[in-house]
Amino acid sequence: VTRDFRSDNVLPAAPEIVDAVVRANAGSMTSYGGDELTVRVRERCCEIFETEVEVFPILSGIAGNALAISVLTPPWGAVFCHAEAHIEREELGAASFYSGAKLVPVGGAGGKLQPEAVTAALASARKTDMAVPACVSITNATEAGTVYSAAELRALCDAARAANLRVHMDGARFANAVAATGAAPAELSWRAGVDVLTFGATKNGAMTADMIVLFRKELAPELGIRIHRSGHRPSKMRFLSAQLEAYLKDDLWLRHARHSNATAARLAAGLAPHVELLQRVDANIVFARFPPALAAALRGEGFQFFDWGIFGEDVYRLVCGFATTEEEVEGLVEAVRGKMNKR
Ligand SMILES: Cc1ncc(COP(=O)(O)O)c(C=O)c1O
Repeated sequence: VTRDFRSDNVLPAAPEIVDAVVRANAGSMTSYGGDELTVRVRERCCEIFETEVEVFPILSGIAGNALAISVLTPPWGAVFCHAEAHIEREELGAASFYSGAKLVPVGGAGGKLQPEAVTAALASARKTDMAVPACVSITNATEAGTVYSAAELRALCDAARAANLRVHMDGARFANAVAATGAAPAELSWRAGVDVLTFGATKNGAMTADMIVLFRKELAPELGIRIHRSGHRPSKMRFLSAQLEAYLKDDLWLRHARHSNATAARLAAGLAPHVELLQRVDANIVFARFPPALAAALRGEGFQFFDWGIFGEDVYRLVCGFATTEEEVEGLVEAVRGKMNKR
């Protein structure tokens, strides 16, 4: 039993996905995305999103975010995002590197942007020559482990559209948002007003593959050029697409996300009587305040989790993934219960 709650990225890849990569390792195939697996991934995404989409398999979420955003803003643009957004805090300015644009962080409880806050931020940006408002980037599920409903997304996108801004979604945990809301993928993306989605797979069972799902066909040629020029169009694309095809087949992506959400809910319920929880647990992440002695004792027993100081002193992040077991969760809950009762 592993005791590793640091991130969904610490988990292995799902056997279905590894098998698909091995199966793709046969014979010759057209390179740079001209292979039949890549074609099938696009077809499957058209079904899942109930519309015509263009799909670009990509090696990482960071590249996926930055390149997706780069077609939604001119170099002098402002990209509004949550102050805790991964693009703002964790990507070393990749979105600015690829687009030239300036990120403008906006606050909001529970990791969520509110339409009024976005409208106010862009009104205030317009009073300056800081940059020209161009785009809003929304993360769903959020970095705080919360999830936007379809109605919340529509309101947010309406506010962006009213100001002529385009909308990007960081869907590193899009599957968790779909699983949590039960809404159709279309409702949580283009029908709400999203122009381009970075649709994660790596965190949810892939080896190393995510995809950019583009809902505005007219932007496809430019996005294709930017992806190629930045070196993010691997010649043996078949191995990325094999992962993505397996990920989307038989709803593996949703089954994984339902499992990780349910596992996190169980963890939260088990911890709640003993320690303070910091955010709603809508998806697969739990934030808990542990007294320092408790954190040290748990770590001494091999439990692993990250410090999450931006949510306050002694706050830690616990992530459940597709491979996190009930046994692991019960082990952590038992350890916390035992140590808190002894105090
Ligand atoms: C919300 C969010 N977006 C994007 C990423 C980037 O993914 P990657 O590290 O695979 O590039 C992460 C990874 O932690 C994330 O949590």
